[in-house]
Amino acid sequence: MRSEAFQKCIDPSCGLEYPVTDIRIECDRGHLLDIKYTSKPSSSLKETFYKRRNHSNNIFNESGVWRFRELLNFCQIDTENIDECSKYLVSLDGAEGRLSKPYHMSKVSDYVGVQNMWLQPEGYNPSGSFKDNGMATAVTHAKLVNIKKIICASTGNTSASAAMYAANENMECDVYIPAGEVAPGKLSQAFQFGSQVIEIKGNFDDALSASLKRAGEADGYTVNSVNPFRIEGQKTIVFRALESRDWDAPDWIVYPGGALGNTSSCGKSLMELYEWGWIKKIPRIAVVNSEGANTLHTLYNGKFEESKLRWNKGKPDTDLIKRYYEFMDANGIRPKTKATAIQIAKPANILKGIRALEFTDGVVTQVSDSEMLDGMALVGLNGFDCEMASGAVPAGIKKLIHEGMIKKDDTVIGILTGRQKDSSIPVDYHKNSQNKFANPPRS
Ligand code: F0G
Repeated sequence: MRSEAFQKCIDPSCGLEYPVTDIRIECDRGHLLDIKYTSKPSSSLKETFYKRRNHSNNIFNESGVWRFRELLNFCQIDTENIDECSKYLVSLDGAEGRLSKPYHMSKVSDYVGVQNMWLQPEGYNPSGSFKDNGMATAVTHAKLVNIKKIICASTGNTSASAAMYAANENMECDVYIPAGEVAPGKLSQAFQFGSQVIEIKGNFDDALSASLKRAGEADGYTVNSVNPFRIEGQKTIVFRALESRDWDAPDWIVYPGGALGNTSSCGKSLMELYEWGWIKKIPRIAVVNSEGANTLHTLYNGKFEESKLRWNKGKPDTDLIKRYYEFMDANGIRPKTKATAIQIAKPANILKGIRALEFTDGVVTQVSDSEMLDGMALVGLNGFDCEMASGAVPAGIKKLIHEGMIKKDDTVIGILTGRQKDSSIPVDYHKNSQNKFANPPRS
């Protein structure tokens, strides 16, 4: 079934609309955009999605992103027509989202103190992170509008994913990275997949400004999560999590927080599913910041000027954000964490993020580097692999249980966002017998 799709400004008092074929990351008044659909998908599609797991060599059924294509049909194609799918939809041969679903990890559950907990390893995507969910859709849009070159800034995983899809689609790709602040395994992917690496002196926020400026000057196509088509693909992380529970919503969905693309896409998917009547309960989102890069935690919990930043039904106090950013700049406050993936001080999707938190009655917490490392090590003890930023999820759940926010009998799904791409981090951790879950070598 075809659905009309269009882009719409997220600010309810603005609400400017644009066709899907427009290339833009904001409305003419500078607000972020959503992709909107006119039709309400029938919940009988749940059966279709389930059946597609027996994919019959159709890569769009095999793909954990495109299996849900009716819920992200911004190309407005006949989703049952394989020729139309092949012409429009970008996929790494069905690999994105194929292996990620929630797994029960008993040692993590025991440690954090909640048994009804599952962790979804999005690192088991082809480029090794959750980014492939959204990059498949962003590059699909780029292809729809005849783009030959994509551009992004990255702490490493976005660039790996963008470069991978660009290579597969014969597009060029420029990646702006903070020099010396990207894990070697991520940097190597950008080189290997043939993208042009541009090293920026500074942090991710500086790299993002530089890449957006360049995109503006040269009509570049930005694939960072400010691109609303990225967010569409990342909704499927939530679809897979819910499908595994027969669409019975958990009490909590937990993410590490960086630029807040994931938080935004989780919020959008839950808003849509709830509006369509596909879920009866709205899970609460918990975002876990690193203590060293904790802008959302600071603003959301009223740690700056004692005012709590809220979406406020579409009227957020954006001046508060501005004042905090000026305060950071004036005082030389720079994000600093060993979890470089989330070493971000100015989350580009902060407004969509707080909208998601308002809709879901969400919470924001923060954890230390050593708590993230313990979280990462514990996931390993269950035979799964994740990077340090993803270790924020078990660490954050533990903290929220300790604070009484998450109850011991709540159901929790945590998203492990990426695979380990800096082997020195776990090696150093395990060699130091002082660490809680160290597994030091013997001589
Ligand atoms: N976890 C990992 C492994 C990441 O790579 C990122 C972001 C996040 C969490 C944060 O997600 O931005 O949606 O809140 N990495 C980006 C990058 C910034 O460039 O690869 P978010």
